[in-house]
Amino acid sequence: MLKTHNCGELRLSHAGQEVSLAGWVHRRRDHGGLIFIDLRDRSGLVQITVQPGRGEAHSVAEKARGEFVLKLDGVVRPRPENLVNPNLPTGEIEVLADSIEILNPAKAPPIPLDDDGYRTDEGQRLKYRYLDLRRARLQENIILRHKTIKFIRDYLDRLGFLEIETPMMIKSTPEGARDYVVPSRLQPGRFFALPQSPQQLKQLLMVAGYERYFQIARCMRDEDLRGDRQPEFTQLDLEMSFVDRDDVLAVVEGLVTALIPVVTPHKRIFEPFPRLSYAEAMARFGTDKPDLRFGMGIVDITDTLRRSEARVFAEPIASGGTVRAIVAPSSAGSSRKEVDTMTDLVKAAGAKAMATLAWTAEGVKGTAAKLLKDSEVSEIVRRLEAKQGDLACMVAGRADVASKALGALRLDFRDRLNLAPPDLLAFAWVIDFPMFEWDEEEKHWSFIHHPFTMPKQEHLDILETDPGAVLSDAYDLVCNGYELSSGSIRIHRRDIQARIFRSLGYSDEEAYRRFGHMLDAFEYGAPPHGGMAPGIDRLIMLLADEPNIREVIAFPKTASAADLMFDAPSELDPKHLRELHLQILE
Ligand code: AMO
Repeated sequence: MLKTHNCGELRLSHAGQEVSLAGWVHRRRDHGGLIFIDLRDRSGLVQITVQPGRGEAHSVAEKARGEFVLKLDGVVRPRPENLVNPNLPTGEIEVLADSIEILNPAKAPPIPLDDDGYRTDEGQRLKYRYLDLRRARLQENIILRHKTIKFIRDYLDRLGFLEIETPMMIKSTPEGARDYVVPSRLQPGRFFALPQSPQQLKQLLMVAGYERYFQIARCMRDEDLRGDRQPEFTQLDLEMSFVDRDDVLAVVEGLVTALIPVVTPHKRIFEPFPRLSYAEAMARFGTDKPDLRFGMGIVDITDTLRRSEARVFAEPIASGGTVRAIVAPSSAGSSRKEVDTMTDLVKAAGAKAMATLAWTAEGVKGTAAKLLKDSEVSEIVRRLEAKQGDLACMVAGRADVASKALGALRLDFRDRLNLAPPDLLAFAWVIDFPMFEWDEEEKHWSFIHHPFTMPKQEHLDILETDPGAVLSDAYDLVCNGYELSSGSIRIHRRDIQARIFRSLGYSDEEAYRRFGHMLDAFEYGAPPHGGMAPGIDRLIMLLADEPNIREVIAFPKTASAADLMFDAPSELDPKHLRELHLQILE
């Protein structure tokens, strides 16, 4: 045992005690004889004082440099009053070193480690991740992740869930993204796929009678990456039998509501979580993952302008479109240049144009002021509840396009005007998703969630005749503009599953070839079941106020799905390729 105490846990109550410490040199200052070393271990920092004349201890301390690994023995003593550091938990004491041993020297680190790291090149941080992970911020994130997962395990155990591991090598089945594949050496030309999620396995566990399953599951997807997506990520995967939607939502809402005060007591949440239908979320916020930390919902003012003579509104309405608006404080900007910038933003989101009304001390201004009658403006004021100092931004056109454009503008206002309170976690449920969306490229219907999602009972009749109108029993948990989790009640009957595969354009033979294991299983007493899968990385990212999930994953990959530390993916030597019956095409 090299150490008797952790550096960061020493307090005034330890004064007078002899301690053995071990850790890294965080900083070293030589005050012309007196040497101060901030010694760091996982628990934090403590100041070590090495007096001249302490024989070998002093000459060893002279050699020590940043990130050297030291072991030392010494005595804890109170710091003189004028040297107390109130910003450090160990700031009232120091350790007077009697002996010091260098366990391992260190080269000067290629990246700074005593700051938050945000300004350091991320490529370098990922290449030297074992150093990057030493910084206090990342350490706190990794500890928060541990505490969260521990809480989840204990909570679900109390609710009677079993943690069951499922295989990492399964069969390639279309589930939304591209599969990562593993070539089989023993069966030439055949491949395993790494699971995009344990979706089918957890359903098969329900068929097997396990009733309540969860897993902290690793998922692999070869898809386009961005800040909240990694090729390899972690889900809290769960599934329950004999439940309806509200049972699943209650378990996840209960878990999240209990978790937050334990791991991040400074965070506020709304309880109960609000529920919005997919249609409502799309209309009012222009997205299926609305940020509800602030208001500024989109309002439909089509009826107000139905008889307007202003062509910018009348024409889109006449061809079946809408006029929609959001109201911002005038600090959002109403100068020509500012309005142009906003217009560019809504155009980039698909709108043709944007009109404004601004209620100023000099009367109603804005690009629509001259086009509208006074009575129309007053009616708009009433509908939007606008007041002096407000700016209304209006988009005319197809309902979904108008909402999507205003939704993008809403987020721009959020960022520019700091509308989102930093300590609020605005969880909300989005329910009643459509079952299918039309895939323009492939020219067939494709699933919105996954092919195992149960259509709403009352829509089973129109599955084949009007697929676009079919709603499903799928639901998402969103938070602060992120999709945190999605799930659904599943199909448990073979006949319905077979109809869904047909709707997705599979022949019966093709569906059986890909999903025979599921279709067969549903014929042996499959119970009704449902579940969901919160993304652990996204959850920790939000709890830790981090801008992307790489900051909360110990060894993440880059945007091009590479591991810079291992320099992976890497080439295989020709012998290995031959064994796997693979040939690289140039
Ligand atoms: P889905 O694909 O929506 O559903 O994923 C569920 C949650 O997992 C997280 N997530 C990701 N996190 C990081 N990187 C990624 N590439 C990534 N992809 C998804 C998100 C998302 O909400 N089997 C279903 C769940 C179910 O129906 O039970 C599934 O995987 O937080």
